This record gives sequence, structure tokens and C-alpha cells, in this order.
Amino acid sequence: LQAEAEAAIAQAADPRALDAVRVAFMGKQGRITGLLRSLGQVAPEERKARGAAVNALRDGLEGVLSARQSVIDAAALEARLAAERMDVTLPPAPEVRGSIHPISRTMEEMTAIFGSMGFTVAEGPEVEADWYNFGALNIPAHHSARSDMDTFYLPGDHEGYPLVMRTHTSSVQIISMLSEPPPLRLIVPGRTYRADHDATHSPMFHQCEGIVLDRGITLAHLKGCLTDFLRSFFGIAHLPIRFRSSYFPFTEPSMEVDIGWNRRTGEIGGGGDWLEILGSGMVHPKVLANCGIDPREWQGFAFGMGIERVTMLKHGISDLRLFYESDIRWLKHYGASP
Ligand code: PHE
Repeated sequence: LQAEAEAAIAQAADPRALDAVRVAFMGKQGRITGLLRSLGQVAPEERKARGAAVNALRDGLEGVLSARQSVIDAAALEARLAAERMDVTLPPAPEVRGSIHPISRTMEEMTAIFGSMGFTVAEGPEVEADWYNFGALNIPAHHSARSDMDTFYLPGDHEGYPLVMRTHTSSVQIISMLSEPPPLRLIVPGRTYRADHDATHSPMFHQCEGIVLDRGITLAHLKGCLTDFLRSFFGIAHLPIRFRSSYFPFTEPSMEVDIGWNRRTGEIGGGGDWLEILGSGMVHPKVLANCGIDPREWQGFAFGMGIERVTMLKHGISDLRLFYESDIRWLKHYGASP
């Protein structure tokens, strides 16, 4: 029996096999346990000697078992160390990092530049009652601006006003004026929507609105603020800037702002040609009155520009659709590192 047990123990190659051997010999139904149990039937004169022999056999096998157990454990540890071994001389796997989308990058740059002039960032809903997008901005129901902008109308209404996807961020001028008393100094970067789609128009695009309201604000403030912004944004200290009289229903007077560029090369800064870059003007007294603000006490200016457009000009990007194609190589090139 001893030889048989020792052979079985020596053959057990893993903890489970060894355990099976243990149970077969020393378990409740095991053969050695059986021998111990059968001592009762042995003649009393033999019992003592036989009992001692079986106990010795059991103790001996226990020693063999635990020795085998140590061997198996050591082998398992060895195998695990080999499997998990690492080569500390290998170069580290490159860390895959995303990048800031060029639109977000421009918004962050605008936020930083206007932030240094004391502007904070405001937001508003993209689905609006048409009153905020048009009516309160002095764009009456049948004004051409409504159809010019190819508005997306939505089913339903808000307090009797048709629902639209905002066609410009100017709606947030109204929301801001209604929600906090002047003085105000805000920019509003955000999504806007128009039913239009080609290389220079996307049904969803981004604008950055700005509004300043205070006592005694004049056209000179508007010109100074936008001149500083544009020179800082394009990184050209003497960027030529032209304020050109224009028309928006919600500003009076209104001005479009042009920057100097070279039409032939597309280079910003010089070259003698002018490129329209944003719309602006003094907030119309009717718009102030629509928001319960007394135009004799408070004056202000507002401006709005297309974020894709200025990003395209700044980086020489030719097709608007590239912004939304999610081509990783393009995004990495024109984006910023996080
Ligand atoms: N909302 C105008 C547009 O989308 C831009 C603008 C904003 C003009 C504020 C004047 C003042 O074209």
C-alpha cells in the first residue's frame, strides 16, 4: 500500500491530481482511513502494533504528500514568472492621444482673447421660439432675412411662437439681455443651423456672437475691440482692417468688417484685397427696448462671425466639409494637442 501511494503521489503533476490522491488514501472513504477503522476487528493482542504501523504509514505519507505539494507549487510559480516576464528594455508602446477639434480650438482661442478683454462665455438653446431668433431682433415676420437664412422650422410652438433651429447666435443676445441686467460683456460660441449645403455652407455650422452693453458705449469701442481681436486671432500685429457700412435689422449703424488679404494666394495680411470676416453694429434701440432696457441709459455693440470661416482663413482650409469628416490625420493636423 505504501509503495502504491508513493507512486501515485509522485505521478500527480498538479494540485488537483495531488488532491485526488490525498482523498483516495487519507480521505473519509480513503484506504488508510479504512485500515484505521478496521482496527476494531483486529485481535486485541495485535491491535496495538498494527495501529502503530498504520499511523506510521499515514504520517509517512503525509510527509511525502506535503513534499510533493511544495514541488508542484514551486513549479507553478516558476511557470507563472516565466509567462509574466517582461522585457524592460522594450521601448514603451506609443500612447494614443486624441486632439482638440479645430472648431473647438478656435472657440478656445476666441474665449482666451475676449477673456483677456473681460468677456465671459454665455450659451443659449439651439431650438428657439422664432421670437428670440427673429422678432426680438427687429426682423419682422415677412422680412427677407427669414427666407435668406433658409430657416429650419420644427413642429410645435413655444408660447405661440413657431419653433426654429437658431439661424445665428444673435438669439442669445436677447436671452442674455432678458436674463441679466446691464452692464454685459459676453461672447457666445455655439452651433447654428441653415438649410444650405455646399463647399462653403453646412446645414450645421458655428458662430461666435459678442455683445457689450454699458453706459456710453460708442462705435469707437466696437472698432477698438474688434481690431484688437482680429489682430490677435490672426497673429498679425498690423493686419489691415476696414469697417464697411452695412445693414442688419438688429444693429444701427451696422458694419461689416473686412481684413486685408491677397485674393490670388489666399494669404491673410497684405496684398491689397479685402475679405469680409464678420458682421457688427451698435445694438438697435428697438432691440434694447424689446428686452426692457432703456436705450437712453444703455448702449452697446454686437458682432457675429462664422467659426468655420475664420478657421478656414487662418489655416488655409479650402473645403468646409472637412470639418465634419472625422479624418484623424486632418483632425490631428489642424487641431491642437489637449
Ligand atoms: N447675426 C449676423 C449673421 O448671422 C451677424 C451679426 C451679429 C451682425 C451681431 C451684427 C451683429 O450674419
